[in-house]
Amino acid sequence: MPKAIRIYENGGPEVLRWEDVDVPQPGPGEVLLRHTAVGLNYADVNLRNGTFYIHTKLPLPAILGNEGVGVVEGLGSSVGNVKVGDRAAYVSPSGMSPPGSYSELRVIDADQLVKIPQDISDRQAAAAFLKGLTAWCIVRRIFPVRPGHTILIHAAAGGVASFLSQWSKHLGATVVGTVGSTEKAEAARAAGCDHTILYREVDFVREVNRLFPDGVSAVFDGVGKDTFLPSLQCLDPFGTLVNFGNASGAPPPLDIRLLGARGAQMVTRLGMGFFFKDRRIQAKAAEEVFDLMSKGVLRARIERTYPLCEAAQAHRDLEGRRTIGSVVLIP
Ligand SMILES: NC(=O)c1ccc[n+]([C@@H]2O[C@H](COP(=O)([O-])OP(=O)(O)OC[C@H]3O[C@@H](n4cnc5c(N)ncnc54)[C@H](OP(=O)(O)O)[C@@H]3O)[C@@H](O)[C@H]2O)c1
Repeated sequence: MPKAIRIYENGGPEVLRWEDVDVPQPGPGEVLLRHTAVGLNYADVNLRNGTFYIHTKLPLPAILGNEGVGVVEGLGSSVGNVKVGDRAAYVSPSGMSPPGSYSELRVIDADQLVKIPQDISDRQAAAAFLKGLTAWCIVRRIFPVRPGHTILIHAAAGGVASFLSQWSKHLGATVVGTVGSTEKAEAARAAGCDHTILYREVDFVREVNRLFPDGVSAVFDGVGKDTFLPSLQCLDPFGTLVNFGNASGAPPPLDIRLLGARGAQMVTRLGMGFFFKDRRIQAKAAEEVFDLMSKGVLRARIERTYPLCEAAQAHRDLEGRRTIGSVVLIP
């Protein structure tokens, strides 16, 4: 019987249970996918502990996991985009489609799948797909990065942030990254950061303003509570703060008058999945991510893999700020 990591209640890593699951036959438009590699994401932690949604809750019990890579093992009727034996990746963004990638085998809508180019391994794809697509939304759509921009990226050695750093640098920006340790500073520099700031030891606002007295063009912030408001003091008068996550907790409420205190700053928050409701846009973004990986511009740094059945330990390490780059779970 196939196995999966399922939760019956919200809570700490101990609520993750490795157990047998029933997997139905694929229906019309669906495929049976055998997972080979599963990307770990901070959203998995937020879904597990119940802090992801604002207005609704994840129906329980639920199998966690917001992205997966696998091999197509069976087809329902009317599936035209993949065939048995194809390797494919998908994201199932929280809030848009149910999770479920923490599983050996699952049924999924065929139109969620994107085929993986031959030169990219399953593990690399799992390390890069959701994180690379999120970076695409930010550097290509929300704040199109250009030469001359200066960008501050928080937790720059993290999964999504490593892609943001590499991509921003590739597009010609000067990049400064905050990091939680000297080891992470090294990783952030390897990912393209021109400057790093140990923000647990040093006041990052003062340091950014020392490096860039006019302020930076944009801040990319997946940390949230601890960094959100101070980041406004790092921006140039017309700069953009892109918040995309809350690893340290939910960002506090914003008094919009603050945005006019020095000019006309902008603040935005993204939900990655909504960019890809139109699957053609997802296909285009995925093509760009995979193409830049093939060219060596974007690298998925996989420091750690864990057997899928040990997902609880992976969660502990991610929450404990002990991971660098991407973590991949192996079914
Ligand atoms: N909006 C979207 O559609 C979307 C899509 C993907 C990801 N995200 C968000 O992007 C962020 C990054 O995700 P990721 O999967 O790539 O994770 P990650 O960045 O690899 O890991 C989180 C990092 O956040 C930093 N951090 C700061 N304060 C923390 C705290 N109190 N507890 C734990 N970590 C803390 C840590 O780095 P340091 O040690 O360097 O501080 C930690 O390594 C998350 O907030 C995630 O929810 C959003």
